[in-house]
Amino acid sequence: MKIIIVENAAVGSHKAYNLLVQGLQTQARVLGLATGSTPILLYQEMAQSKLDFSHITTINLDEYLGLGPNNPQSYHYFMKQHLFQFKSFSKNYLPNGLAPDINQELQRYDQVIADHPIAIQILGIGQNGHIGFNEPGTSFHSQTHCVTLSSSTRDANARFFPNKQAVPQKAISMGLFSIMQSQRIILMAWGKDKAEAVSQMINGPVTEKCPASILQKHPHTTVILDSAAAAKL
Ligand code: GLP
Repeated sequence: MKIIIVENAAVGSHKAYNLLVQGLQTQARVLGLATGSTPILLYQEMAQSKLDFSHITTINLDEYLGLGPNNPQSYHYFMKQHLFQFKSFSKNYLPNGLAPDINQELQRYDQVIADHPIAIQILGIGQNGHIGFNEPGTSFHSQTHCVTLSSSTRDANARFFPNKQAVPQKAISMGLFSIMQSQRIILMAWGKDKAEAVSQMINGPVTEKCPASILQKHPHTTVILDSAAAAKL
């Protein structure tokens, strides 16, 4: 893991943007994208750039079960709001939270990932060490799966909903095995609430109790932290 510590999220997001641009210059064609507050400044910079993404395919990590693209809390909506309304891509893939047959949807998404190997995967990290929606205890061998969200994740994400009760109980997430297949990973974390998870990810044991710790085994992961998120290293 390469660790970069910067003063704030704006500087860190710019570093991530530069890494992305370098990757695109070296033929990266498939981007793995994350949602949450962490990548917002990166997406803003991508949206405001002159970069042409029309030959780039994107594959998102996850989606809430039961939320459709027009629901403002869905990750489809988030991506449209922060990036896709500003930039056209060859194709944008996200899990379908309204799929009538969930098992079929999980298989479809695994096929999407198999057909489009991810060159650069953008990640945030949950306060409990989750990546995507792979909660503590998720198998390191997991592919796309249906997840029951932990109470702490629902607490953390309640800020995007009217109240905690409105946060869906379940989500579809790309699995840890699939994330590890990405050629390159850029994980960002901002703020003191992430300090413990970041410390476990980098210096803790590689254990399914901290899903992000699997990244210690990934050959090309760059972790970009602000000083608050790096405080426990
Ligand atoms: C969410 C998402 C993750 C994200 C994480 C952190 O639940 N599923 O992809 O990285 O939690 O969110 P935030 O960036 O808002 O802190």
